[in-house]
Amino acid sequence: MTRSFADRPIDDALLTELCDDALRAPTAGNTQGTALVVLTDDPDRAAYWEASTDAAWRARSARFAGLRRAPVIVLVLCEPAAYVERYAASDKANSGLGEGVEVWPVPYWFGDAAFVAMGLLLGAAAHDLGAAFLGAFRGVDAIKEAFAIPPTWELFATVLLGHPDGGDHRSASLDRTVPRSSRLHFGGFSARSA
Ligand SMILES: Cc1cc2nc3c(=O)[nH]c(=O)nc-3n(C[C@H](O)[C@H](O)[C@H](O)COP(=O)(O)O)c2cc1C
Repeated sequence: MTRSFADRPIDDALLTELCDDALRAPTAGNTQGTALVVLTDDPDRAAYWEASTDAAWRARSARFAGLRRAPVIVLVLCEPAAYVERYAASDKANSGLGEGVEVWPVPYWFGDAAFVAMGLLLGAAAHDLGAAFLGAFRGVDAIKEAFAIPPTWELFATVLLGHPDGGDHRSASLDRTVPRSSRLHFGGFSARSA
């Protein structure tokens, strides 16, 4: 992830291409219940940071200035009800998943939104751009209100895009090492590790 961006925009055509490509990610039942809201104007980006952070954090965070310079903020959204409606259709009705969000063992709307977010990250990397994935756990209601996101839509994540300026502060998360052998298994979870 890049958390320190240069104050330089991304080419408009490239940004559209990155978003179009990301939205080609597969969706369950081809529901296509995912969407992006792309913020590039400074007042919109300012409103995003205002909604998603508080003044005390902005004042003390060593990272805020570098994040704030990101020229593009992409909100990655999904609409659970669209999936329920899709799976109530005749070709999917025998799944039982058309009965409501609560019967879904795996909420595919979030998986599909993750595919879209991953598409943005991969597209950015392919074009030597920087990207950061920000979890949606602060100020979600304020973000939805600021950008007129309808109540049926969920904010899955935010992806920042831009040009890295090389000024990143090393993330403490990078010190975590989980051995590959405990994550890659052949023939059953603990049968044989790589
Ligand atoms: C679901 C998810 C949520 C994340 N949330 C945040 C976040 O809120 N802020 C942040 O700076 N990084 C966030 N990250 C980025 C991870 O910290 C980062 O991917 C990890 O430390 C590995 O670093 P790398 O992506 O640079 O290799 C998130 C990543 C994922 C997959």
